[in-house]
Amino acid sequence: MKTRALALLFTIVASVQAVCLSAATPDGLNLLPQPRNVEMCEGEYFRFDPTTTVHCNIPQLRRYLSDYLPTFSWSSPRSRVEVRLNPSLEVPKEGYRLSIRPERVVVEGVDYAGAFYGVQTLLQFFPSTVYEGGFREACSLPCVEITDWPEYSHRGQHLDVARTFMPLEEIKEFVEHLARHKINRLHLHLTDDEGWRVEILSHPELTEVGAWRGGDSPIWAIYGSFDEKYGGYYTQAELRELVAWAADRCITIIPEVDLPGHSLAIGKVIPEVLCPVERDNSAAAGYDRRNVWCVAREENYALLDDIFRELADVFPSEWMHIGGDEVGMKQWADCPHCSALYKSEGYTDYSQLEAHFLNRVVEIVERYGKRPVVWNEAINGGNLTHDALVCGWKDMEACKKATSEGYRTVVMPGSWFYFDMRQSAKEMGHNWAGVVTPEKCYSVDLETLGFKESQIALIEGFEGAFWSELHLVGRETFECYLEYMTFPRVCALAELCWTPQSLRQWGDFELRLKAHGERMNAMGISYRHAAPPAPQGRQITPKMTVSTSMPMSRSEALDKLSVYANDWGYRTKRTCEDGDWILYEFAQPLDNVKVELTTGYRHVTRGLIPMGKVEVSIDGHTFRSVADLHNGSATIELSRPTKAIRLRSTATGNGESFVFLQYPIIHTLTK
Ligand code: ACM
Ligand code: ZN
Repeated sequence: MKTRALALLFTIVASVQAVCLSAATPDGLNLLPQPRNVEMCEGEYFRFDPTTTVHCNIPQLRRYLSDYLPTFSWSSPRSRVEVRLNPSLEVPKEGYRLSIRPERVVVEGVDYAGAFYGVQTLLQFFPSTVYEGGFREACSLPCVEITDWPEYSHRGQHLDVARTFMPLEEIKEFVEHLARHKINRLHLHLTDDEGWRVEILSHPELTEVGAWRGGDSPIWAIYGSFDEKYGGYYTQAELRELVAWAADRCITIIPEVDLPGHSLAIGKVIPEVLCPVERDNSAAAGYDRRNVWCVAREENYALLDDIFRELADVFPSEWMHIGGDEVGMKQWADCPHCSALYKSEGYTDYSQLEAHFLNRVVEIVERYGKRPVVWNEAINGGNLTHDALVCGWKDMEACKKATSEGYRTVVMPGSWFYFDMRQSAKEMGHNWAGVVTPEKCYSVDLETLGFKESQIALIEGFEGAFWSELHLVGRETFECYLEYMTFPRVCALAELCWTPQSLRQWGDFELRLKAHGERMNAMGISYRHAAPPAPQGRQITPKMTVSTSMPMSRSEALDKLSVYANDWGYRTKRTCEDGDWILYEFAQPLDNVKVELTTGYRHVTRGLIPMGKVEVSIDGHTFRSVADLHNGSATIELSRPTKAIRLRSTATGNGESFVFLQYPIIHTLTK
């Protein structure tokens, strides 16, 4: 907020200098995110060569910069490149001035972040090889005067390390990439149904047991780790290392413990935290999928006190994310203690009970000097404290609701900001919020979207999200799935957060992004260039009948699948058991085709048959096994006339109470 308020003071300066910007930048500098004021100085260059000396009186930044420019002297204040703090610089927080003149380069930051971002902009003037580390070349830097500061104070990226564990080094590298794009907050989603990833010294069982799934863990395998015990967690020492690494790069890590829902993992470790409700688990092959904290159990708040006391000590961030999304409130309605509390408080909606729980958690985090962040559902009851910062994820309406009720809000609805969504219709990724392109994220304009001025004043910024359900499987196709999914969408997010709306234009950004690709290559970012190629051959839909041993939840399902209808597939009424089968019988034998067989959602490893066989039959009666299902899917080629294909489960249970059935995708084989 402060940044935005101060920004107004400088509007006049900005509008005058913006004239120079439009004349100078689009085809020249390719800076990204676009700085606010860029003034080119005609004709001259600063010559940078291996004898050039650099002086930086900020030790933390000197350490960072020496990775890029290692060969230069760091001691002399008369150096030709000078990086320094200047608290009296007339720019808001995080602002800087960069001056490149033939005789001297000066980067001045109003604070550490300002100096850091000035250095980031300076590095973009160098050949992209500067990002490979140890730059030793000579180059010419065009003369320029830049005065710059961010439009929004919250320039966030969320990272879900709960569904898929990511090694510390991978997170550090990600932080490095974010920092180069002037992102300043990493929202680290540390707990969820599938795992508890943060060491809590007073409750070591949370990670000893809760950080693992599959094998002998009480948490069942899901999302691509079906035949192994899979997981991992971060020790507090590792997290402190990450926090320090990120702080050097001006990134604050906001830890999230997702409460009171999304808590299956802790519920498997300490079952008493959940409501004591009886459930029929037969559809899930006996797996108890309750995941909501009991609001009425007083000991729960003592446990949460232990957890947040330790987290507050590890994470210096003023913010702690306490969750609040997607709570299965029926568990409260069924719980004798929660329903009694609901009645005694006079509540009329279970959202009020959610806020009741979260307000207790807010008291805890505030006791440890922190401020709460919540997902947008947390305000639905109308009784959540206004101390909370709201992450609006569901849709733009949720962000409008939060701001109209006076909550400071981070805008991050799935349809614009979820970078686990597909980048085109038929590639890896979720699609419940549609296809999310960099342009979609870039083009967010709050005014056009109908936010009033008073609402816009409460917007802290924007945040991209990377949920990692598919990360494990995605990595089989793209080694750096995280980078493939987040870049270049993070580039678009970065400029949305940094650059004023009046200076943002998609066509111009797209051109600069193209040039920025060379930098990302040098940074080692495996970013997405284009949609994967379409499969070879012609897709055909031969006459077919689909049947299964599993009861379907809709009566028309098998008929629809038999005519290749409904791309989403259809649910069964229960999970799979060992021996269950799905049979595809063809009216005419199939030959010389490639067949993609999928269980679960397409390109999403959920609701599938985790282990099984693909069997084919020449005569329609006797079957032979030709492949194993891998993550619920298999692709086979048929080179003999084949009357039927059968998928046979060798697993009981998939962590869900259903299986998704799909029609096969059949292509003629090109010779
Ligand atoms: C969310 O995507 N459930 C916050
Ligand atoms: Zn309860």
